[in-house]
Amino acid sequence: MFAVHLMAFYFTKLKEDQIKKVDRFLYHMRLSDETLLDIMARFQAEMQKGLGKDTNPTASVKMLPTFVRAIPDGSENGEFLSLDLGGSKFRVLKVQVSEEGKRNVQMESQFYPTPNEIIRGNGTELFEYVADCLADFMKTKELMQKKLPLGLTFSFPCKQTKLEEGILLSWTKKFKARGVQGTDVVSSLTNAMKRHQDLDVDILALVNDTVGTMMTCAYDDPYCEVGVIIGTGTNACYMEDMSNIDLVEGDEGRMCVNTEWGAFGDDGALEDIRTEFDRELDLGSLNPGKQLFEKMISGLYLGELVRLILLKMAKAGLLFGGEKSSALHIKGKIETRHVAAMERYKEGLANTREILTDLGLEPSDADCIAVQHVCTIVSFRSANLCAAALAAILTRLRENKKLVRLRTTVGVDGTLYKIHPQYPKRLHKVVRKLVPNCDVRFLLSESGSTKGAAMVTAVASRLQAQRKQIDKVLALFRLTQEQLVGIRNKMRVEFEYGLKKDTHPLATVKMLPTYVCGMPDGTEKGKFLALDLGGTNFRVLLVKIRSGRRSVRMYNKIFAIPLEIMQGTGEELFDHIVQCIADFLDYMGLKGAQLPLGFTFSFPCRQASIDKGTLIEWTKGFKATDCEGEDVVDMLREAIKRRNEFDLDIVAVVNDTVGTMMTCGYEDSNCEVGLIAGTGSNMCYMEEMRNIELVEGDEGKMCINTEWGGFGDNGCLDDIHTQYDKEVDEGSLNPGKQRYEKMTSGMYLGEIVRQILIDLTKQGLLFRGQISERLRTRGIFETKFLSQIESDRLALLQVRRILQQLGLDSTCEDSIVVKEVCGAVSRRAAQLYGAGLAAIVEKRREDQGLEHMRITVGVDGTLYKLHPHFSQILRETVKELAPQCDVMFMLSEDGSGKGAALITAVAKRLQQAQRDH
Ligand code: BG6
Ligand code: BG6
Ligand code: GLC
Ligand code: GLC
Repeated sequence: MFAVHLMAFYFTKLKEDQIKKVDRFLYHMRLSDETLLDIMARFQAEMQKGLGKDTNPTASVKMLPTFVRAIPDGSENGEFLSLDLGGSKFRVLKVQVSEEGKRNVQMESQFYPTPNEIIRGNGTELFEYVADCLADFMKTKELMQKKLPLGLTFSFPCKQTKLEEGILLSWTKKFKARGVQGTDVVSSLTNAMKRHQDLDVDILALVNDTVGTMMTCAYDDPYCEVGVIIGTGTNACYMEDMSNIDLVEGDEGRMCVNTEWGAFGDDGALEDIRTEFDRELDLGSLNPGKQLFEKMISGLYLGELVRLILLKMAKAGLLFGGEKSSALHIKGKIETRHVAAMERYKEGLANTREILTDLGLEPSDADCIAVQHVCTIVSFRSANLCAAALAAILTRLRENKKLVRLRTTVGVDGTLYKIHPQYPKRLHKVVRKLVPNCDVRFLLSESGSTKGAAMVTAVASRLQAQRKQIDKVLALFRLTQEQLVGIRNKMRVEFEYGLKKDTHPLATVKMLPTYVCGMPDGTEKGKFLALDLGGTNFRVLLVKIRSGRRSVRMYNKIFAIPLEIMQGTGEELFDHIVQCIADFLDYMGLKGAQLPLGFTFSFPCRQASIDKGTLIEWTKGFKATDCEGEDVVDMLREAIKRRNEFDLDIVAVVNDTVGTMMTCGYEDSNCEVGLIAGTGSNMCYMEEMRNIELVEGDEGKMCINTEWGGFGDNGCLDDIHTQYDKEVDEGSLNPGKQRYEKMTSGMYLGEIVRQILIDLTKQGLLFRGQISERLRTRGIFETKFLSQIESDRLALLQVRRILQQLGLDSTCEDSIVVKEVCGAVSRRAAQLYGAGLAAIVEKRREDQGLEHMRITVGVDGTLYKLHPHFSQILRETVKELAPQCDVMFMLSEDGSGKGAALITAVAKRLQQAQRDH
């Protein structure tokens, strides 16, 4: 009895002594609560640094956005392939998610070895090896004939700009294959897979193992919003608020951030707690100076730390009687599994003796106790450090959510956590001590990270299917070069129809003679009034032309034309116009002055002379009754008479295209085409009199108002007319008319966009499937909004704000789609304009028998002026479709009122000359 007591006493004493000895020797590795709180605070600061746009480049903790935006919601389903590369084991898997609506996951997997010559050899060979393993797996499982989406768990720091891409920042842990850093691993693997012709696999997602772990655990516990790996390496990810992630556009919802906390301290932030053993271990590693936090924590390094400590202690005569075995000198001889075995509760001491003996040492009882304690200190420090960083993340989560108490779940995986007998308990305890205001549940990921990776892939594959639907819609608006050539040729045919007497009555492109026969020659002078009706704004102008110096002064006033007047009676409309003229004259102090007037009237008019214009039919937003078939000059004259306040000499009625050509022609005599890309779409040009069969005489030229807006009204554009164009047409004031205009001009582009958005929403691809009242409202997308949305300088957030201003509650993803839709619609418009314009310049070139022709096109209209890409695409298309013409575009800065005044001046001069005769 006494002997037993004595033994027990002896043993306790021995243990105390040994522990004291080791504690003294490793005092630097024992971290107080204060130190841990300090480390926690430092890590909090590091996270902030990594998240900031300006501070990220120099941050050691990279806080990588993962493009995983939501945890699984149970709706995921399908069959997926999965690769799991970078942990202690390489696995290929087939994952079947959720059959018949149940949360159910089935996996089949196969491990493959990763020999050092592969993981530290040539990068291409590494990926070829991975592809070979995948092919082998698919053969064995008879999956070759299936096209399956693949999720790649790749446990290294990767910079992602989307889910299916990852630029390797640097290898960590045991990997060091050449030529991979700085390249996209997804495309490398995709390329490697091409060697297997029978392999048809689409890599849809690249995820870090922490992310896979979080998702795996979140599938079972929706509170899970953190993933931690304590295995070969160590790392963590968590769900961060988008508004805090500077590196990704958008501020809505959350995104998983892969912290890559293993690199904490790489900038020297942990020098005060690193020991000589940490430094020595680092020097002997594959990546010296890197992953310093990881090297104090993870499985790949713990055993080695213990070995270095034992060696030092033996050298100092504190262990093994000062004896060292040769095995103890060999790097890697003590592994984490040994550390875990030595720390086992009951068999620990016996295991220690066995392990030390296997190393060629002859340990005493005291040695075994001491070595066991070394292991404890090293692994305890590891758990402490992990806990400090994890506590920082939990605090951040709590603060993001503005909660006093946070209830959350942390998903964990990794061999160290799984096989070490004390590790989980210690980690949990310290975390709870450091963040007493968090209720944390730790959930072990039983099925590795691939189940989670499959969830991410499932979501990606659903998004991909949606993307395909969106692309299908957008493809309807993409015109091939061949189609554009076809359109150019058809337009050309329509021009000829319109010009020829026989075919003119049936022509849809009317080719109206304007009786404008020459350009201003600079001798024009005087004061003129001008009206500018039919574009976005109605304007009254006073234009003073001085001869000789080609200088023009203008004064103008914009007046509104209320909708009820635009679509009321003709009398009301013209009375309103006269009222505006009266106001203007009053405003200018010109009451009673009898000035010559030029009337820009931007609608199709049949003219028998310069001062007569019979409205053929209203276009765009006008629909006043009793005007079609009437001479608008007469209507204006009568309205002036009705008012009986002043008299005006109406000298000319001109289309806006003609006014624009004249405005520009005053500066550049080479300007022989006028183009409007505004509310409406139209073009005029100077034609040889001999080609104009409707007007007598073969000498000289006359301007033809093509009214090309009607192109396609005979069905010749039906092959490119989409269902959306049809809807816009049906909802317009003039169904079946102005087909080309409705595919190209500002008044309709926004409407086409709106129709597409309604359809995409109906398909559940936008606005959460909800069609709002605003989206049902005609005309919400004015040209200016379309132009703003498409501006390259605009961040996504701003696009979203514009949409919100329009009453459309869009997410960032919605905004991207809306922008794409706008882009597709406006691009088609610009290309169609280009095809039409190419037809006219080619015609002019051929008519003049020129090999090469230079010509200037005067342009006006809000679409051309405001849209960020329209003019560029127009120019490119003309260049491609009329390569023998040098087309210069000249923006009409002063509007067409100036041109109308010039035409009036010329007409006045001719009138005078006739009278003088
Ligand atoms: C596995 C996961 O369970 O754990 C891997 O499936 C992960 O994705 C690994 O990398 C981490 O642990 P270890 O110890 O294998 O590095
Ligand atoms: C103006 C011209 O600058 O542009 C008008 O003065 C023309 O005559 C108009 O109708 C066309 O553009 P929008 O976009 O106003 O229809
Ligand atoms: C290393 C990798 C990291 C990974 C971790 C755990 O730290 O850099 O991406 O998550 O190991 O495997
Ligand atoms: C409409 C009109 C046309 C005008 C064009 C541009 O197409 O019919 O006359 O030139 O719009 O405003």
